[in-house]
Amino acid sequence: MSKLNVVILAAGAGTRMRSSLPKVLHLLAGKPLLMHVINTARLLSADRICIVYGHGGDAVQQTIIGDDLIWVKQEPQLGTGHALLQAKPHLDQDGLTLVLYGDVPLVSLKTLNKLLLAAEQEYCALLTAQLENPLGYGRIVRNSKSISAIVEQKDASAEQLKIHEINTGVMIIPNRYLHAWLPKLENNNAQQEYYLTDIIAMAVEQGVNVASTQPQNLWETMGVNSKRQLAELERIYQTEYANKLLDQGVGLTDPSRIDIRGELICGTDVDIDVNCIFEGVVRLADNVKIQGHCTLRNVIVSAGTVIAPYSLIEDAEIGESCKIGPYARIRPGTKLSAKVHIGNFVEVKNSQVATGSKANHLSYIGDTIIGEHVNIGAGTITCNYDGANKYQTIIEDDVFVGSDTQLVAPVRVAKGSTIGAGSTITKDTPENELTLSRAKQLSIPGWKRPIKQ
Ligand code: UD1
Ligand code: CA
Repeated sequence: MSKLNVVILAAGAGTRMRSSLPKVLHLLAGKPLLMHVINTARLLSADRICIVYGHGGDAVQQTIIGDDLIWVKQEPQLGTGHALLQAKPHLDQDGLTLVLYGDVPLVSLKTLNKLLLAAEQEYCALLTAQLENPLGYGRIVRNSKSISAIVEQKDASAEQLKIHEINTGVMIIPNRYLHAWLPKLENNNAQQEYYLTDIIAMAVEQGVNVASTQPQNLWETMGVNSKRQLAELERIYQTEYANKLLDQGVGLTDPSRIDIRGELICGTDVDIDVNCIFEGVVRLADNVKIQGHCTLRNVIVSAGTVIAPYSLIEDAEIGESCKIGPYARIRPGTKLSAKVHIGNFVEVKNSQVATGSKANHLSYIGDTIIGEHVNIGAGTITCNYDGANKYQTIIEDDVFVGSDTQLVAPVRVAKGSTIGAGSTITKDTPENELTLSRAKQLSIPGWKRPIKQ
């Protein structure tokens, strides 16, 4: 295959976003717009990916990281042709250049491969679309069958304005022509900009073929210029993702009420109720049930586990047949084995819980290792922090911790111990004994309540 260079144009100001954040850093499905385009470009295994940036360049470069990216500054911004001209020194002499836009995030690999195929014989190739309302777009002018030019809205004649086939902006140009044509672009047009689109008339003049293909889906070519368009595209993305999951057999109570900001990988007979958010990479094994209003970020959930409503789980592994929530908070570094129960208002952080152990109500478990078949009573707190350092708590197999216990770390509760309710445990406990630390209960005969004076 011939060399492939990709240039992503991303220097536009994006004033209509009404935001201090550069446009291409706004998030779609949890990822900057520009990142979507870069990821797709990477799938083409391009020899080179150049990004033409302008507005908010520092912020863009700090957010978008990759050794494979070549950053090219365009200052001032004099149009799409001028933008590509800035990247010219980085382009190979032969092979092809594919132009993408940083604010058109959803163009698919399939569509780009189709366009590449059309450009195979050193043709120019344009991705065009038929729009019911072509207002604002460059129009594709054809004579008989072949393309003769692209005319911008502001430069078009009344006749040309009636054309419904538009330029999406995505195009491929053979490098050997591009090097010759780019410096020849002029800006004598309505916007006094250097239009990249003028290259097409040059191609036609020199007898270079201009091929065209159309995208699989129209939304692939939708750009983001405003928060409204961003929200619209987000919905399209989520609907597509939800439909993909349904096709795989995942049960979604309402496909319009799920948000996936990353990757969601599901086994068979997974059911997801409404308003759940999945971020990063989430894996749900067979028969996992995620009930309403849960958020899972970088989580692995093993088979048969139920996550009850309003649970928040981050950077954690949940074993088989566990019962989590409602209202559970599981924080990074947590690993739960099979058949663990973590109930309402229980927070678990950086802890391991072995098979069959339960903490069902109102607890904080941090930096703790819990053995098998342990019962953590309601209101138990591991005191893992002395204000400066964190310490570990170890609770061995078959321990029963009575309600409202504080375990002051570092501390070890040995195998089979029972801790009396309301204890503050500061020292290691012996195996199989009852340990408690509690003032003795006493009653004062004849004591009277105070009376208001
Ligand atoms: C461009 C096309 C038009 C097409 C439309 C599709 C030209 C002259 N026109 O028009 O035919 O229908 O896109 O959306 O190419 N950019 C730079 N530097 C600049 C100007 C733009 O990097 O100096 C970048 C923008 O950040 C954006 C892209 O190029 O990613 C397109 O710019 P935009 O101003 O939106 O182009 P349009 O005038 O809409
Ligand atoms: Ca535009």
